[in-house]
Amino acid sequence: MIDIDYSSLRPVLDVCCGGRLFYYERNTPVVTFQDIRRGTFEAGEGRTITVDPDVAGDFTNLSYEDGGEHKGFALVVFDPPHLKRAGPHSFMRAKYGVLDKDWKKEWGQGFRECFRVLRNDGVLVFKWSTSDIPMEEVLKLSPYRPLLGDQRGHTRWAIFIKHGGMRRKE
Ligand SMILES: C[S@@+](CC[C@H](N)C(=O)[O-])C[C@H]1O[C@@H](n2cnc3c(N)ncnc32)[C@H](O)[C@@H]1O
Repeated sequence: MIDIDYSSLRPVLDVCCGGRLFYYERNTPVVTFQDIRRGTFEAGEGRTITVDPDVAGDFTNLSYEDGGEHKGFALVVFDPPHLKRAGPHSFMRAKYGVLDKDWKKEWGQGFRECFRVLRNDGVLVFKWSTSDIPMEEVLKLSPYRPLLGDQRGHTRWAIFIKHGGMRRKE
């Protein structure tokens, strides 16, 4: 169990931040960065990727309180691995990681955890690359329907809101 000082949490949570390549400011004061890995990883041809999260932990079991009315994260970022295969010492594996055989179960649990820690009306930003698995297949794993997002191309973003009207029927 990770020891977390809840009073120090920031309004944004990135549950699998990797090398923080998304960010205009990699040390922004508004994001709690989490990843299951910590370290510097060989990426071939002399390149390395450093993953240095604030919290080392699994997105299928987030160590934060439930969100709700005026409590919880305002924004959660979820960019899980999307590749079925990558060379053992490749840049893609070092940067993004790869899917294992239970990925559907784990990514579904990841979605549920992201929504659990969001405040009501909080926003989830999900990113996927459709190179190996279609977007529709992964969106089905979420307990909420996506609100909007780009619907073409390999790299896709989907925006969700934690609102009862967007929850899927059980
Ligand atoms: C596609 S990369 C994220 C890249 C990141 N968005 C960036 O800006 O660099 C996916 C990340 O998910 C992490 N990851 C994989 N399984 C995880 C899990 N169960 N919990 C938390 N992080 C996980 C990997 O270590 C990897 O860094």
